[in-house]
Amino acid sequence: MSIAAATRTLKVRIKRYDPELDQPPRWEEYDIEADPLDRVLDVIQNVKWLHDDSLGLRRSCAHGVCGSDAMRINGVNALACKILVKNVRGDTLTVEPILGLPVIKDLIVDMKPFFDHYKAVMPYLVNDDPPPTTERIQTPEERARFDDTTKCILCACCTTACPPFWGDQKYVGPAAIVNAHRFIFDSRDRGAAERLDILNDAEGVWRCRTVFNCTSACPRDIKVTQAIQEVKRALLTGSVHTDDALHILES
Ligand code: SF4
Ligand code: FES
Repeated sequence: MSIAAATRTLKVRIKRYDPELDQPPRWEEYDIEADPLDRVLDVIQNVKWLHDDSLGLRRSCAHGVCGSDAMRINGVNALACKILVKNVRGDTLTVEPILGLPVIKDLIVDMKPFFDHYKAVMPYLVNDDPPPTTERIQTPEERARFDDTTKCILCACCTTACPPFWGDQKYVGPAAIVNAHRFIFDSRDRGAAERLDILNDAEGVWRCRTVFNCTSACPRDIKVTQAIQEVKRALLTGSVHTDDALHILES
């Protein structure tokens, strides 16, 4: 016989904003019965389904893969589908949209500025060399060099946890640099010099103040700050190191 874990009542505070009704945004509170193993996403969906279906939120996979339910939960950026109720301290759950992007409605932000920065760093393989008869071969060590930054799901938790980004939304932001890193250090890629040139700008990597908020916020445990530091180092040295090779960048 299994013993069900005791449910608890959470006071859920949600920042609400309907551009046609709310100037400025307002806070709404709901008492929600929650199981310790419920996720914060379940709690918020219960608010929508049982209390107020006008609540706006974005989510898709509910399993930490799509990155669409990034929000600020008790002051910390996270994916609502990855935080369990048992890990919420106290009896109040405060939920607001991620910071630094325009709010469309309630917890839904306009991701276009975020994806504009992402697209600006050429987040794709550049290689016009004649294609080999088989694959473009890469050693396990060369593949490992950029493994960490392949894990990004573009949730924006890092960029919207970054104080320099809050102060200046022209800053390309941690997520874009992570995705530039993924290709800059790929031995098959030929676009590193161009990407580094884009990032060698006051609104590029040099806006980073090494606050580490990005690394703390990343739900994929990517070493975001380290990736940014490696891009800075590549710019300062003019080279991209791998474990077994040194590629001197074209000037
Ligand atoms: S680096 Fe991490 S926090 Fe930033 S967008 Fe990618 S997965 Fe999200
Ligand atoms: S809903 Fe897809 S990551 Fe949370």
